Amino acid sequence: MKNVISGFSKLTKEQKIDWLCDYYSNNPEESKSLLNRYNNSDPDVQKIHDEFIENTLSNYYMPFAIAPNFLIDQKVYAIPMAIEESSVVAAAAKAAKFWLNRGGFKTEVVQTEKVGQIHLIYSDNPLTLKDFFESHRHELLDSAAEITKNMQARGGGILDMKLVDKTAQLEGYFQIHMCFETLDAMGANFINSCLEQIAKTFETLAEQQACFERHKPKIVMSILSNYVPNCLVRAKVSCPVEELKENDINGQEFAENFLTALQIAHAEPYRAVTHNKGIMNGIDAVVIATGNDFRAVEAGVHAYAAKNGSYQSLTHAKIEKGNFHFWIELPLALGTVGGLTKLHPLVRLAMGILGNPNAKELMKITAVAGLAQNFAAVKSLVTTGIQKGHMKMHLLNILNGFGATTEEKNQLIAHFKNETVSNAAVQKALEELRK
Ligand code: MEV
Repeated sequence: MKNVISGFSKLTKEQKIDWLCDYYSNNPEESKSLLNRYNNSDPDVQKIHDEFIENTLSNYYMPFAIAPNFLIDQKVYAIPMAIEESSVVAAAAKAAKFWLNRGGFKTEVVQTEKVGQIHLIYSDNPLTLKDFFESHRHELLDSAAEITKNMQARGGGILDMKLVDKTAQLEGYFQIHMCFETLDAMGANFINSCLEQIAKTFETLAEQQACFERHKPKIVMSILSNYVPNCLVRAKVSCPVEELKENDINGQEFAENFLTALQIAHAEPYRAVTHNKGIMNGIDAVVIATGNDFRAVEAGVHAYAAKNGSYQSLTHAKIEKGNFHFWIELPLALGTVGGLTKLHPLVRLAMGILGNPNAKELMKITAVAGLAQNFAAVKSLVTTGIQKGHMKMHLLNILNGFGATTEEKNQLIAHFKNETVSNAAVQKALEELRK
């Protein structure tokens, strides 16, 4: 197997690219030139990118855009979004404009608690373990003092630590469940360091206990949880139902249809997944633009959507006393310090555009992006249908795919103003134009 290699990470970047292109590319020269082209022209900036991960060959890029006019708690934001999907930013900007004239978005951070767990197995009397844990609680916590010192000085740190008996779920399974306040840091490294230190102390102390002579508790692993139901943010919009009237849309009818669409997304998981996917279009775009961990956010958000035992909408709506109310509630563990925030130039820029928010403010802005996205999607779905707006935005991708010139693009954009866009229709129109 010639294409198996050891010591790959030790090669220089050029050697890695050569090796890759020789074994895995049909056109090595073109692949090399592509990988080289997307390396940053500033070697210092590129070096930082190279050191984010192992085996960096180039940079993977995505569009970086702005959705302006977001009135959030009386402050206007232009929200940076990194996303490849055609209509997402346009939809966000449209929703922002819609709510700008109707009071804007109101937000609230409900809680900011993060979680980490030390998972262990103990197959003897649970009371022995509980006694040991309680009598050594202070030593366990004190052993992490060096790690928590700075966080604590800023008002964060370990909030709670308890031993949980999970033997009903799994034989011998216990956990030390810990809650943390990590302030403006997402907190993964802080939490994992605390957990590992406490687990180590636990093992050392347990080693010396006569009560564990027969059976020793065995630490299996120590890791934060990305399920953060107590790191919660809410964002909402509301207005009199008649103010939902727009062009030929009747406010009352729109509000009722919107509500029914939301009820369906609460009742039907197939719809709820797509409904929430639309929300994540907005959330992920902001999370990525601000250098946060979108996998952690995704995992935590979807678990939250299933907290009632079936997967449901993250947004809610009601009509009350002639007013339409629409809101989102979701867990978001975000950071505005640490991670890539200072290292990635576009993340720095994005944070600057947002006025260098703290973590709570970023939670609010991100939740609003999700709510706006969902409003735009459901509004389209219950009125014009989604394809009209989406395909209008996608038209340029189709034209670029057919290699259309600027002149051809301009003519066909005009042509499709009142025509339905589809791949076949664009191909046909382009062929006609070229005749
Ligand atoms: C597409 O990326 C997102 C939507 O499907 C969301 C939804 O159906 O609500 C339009």
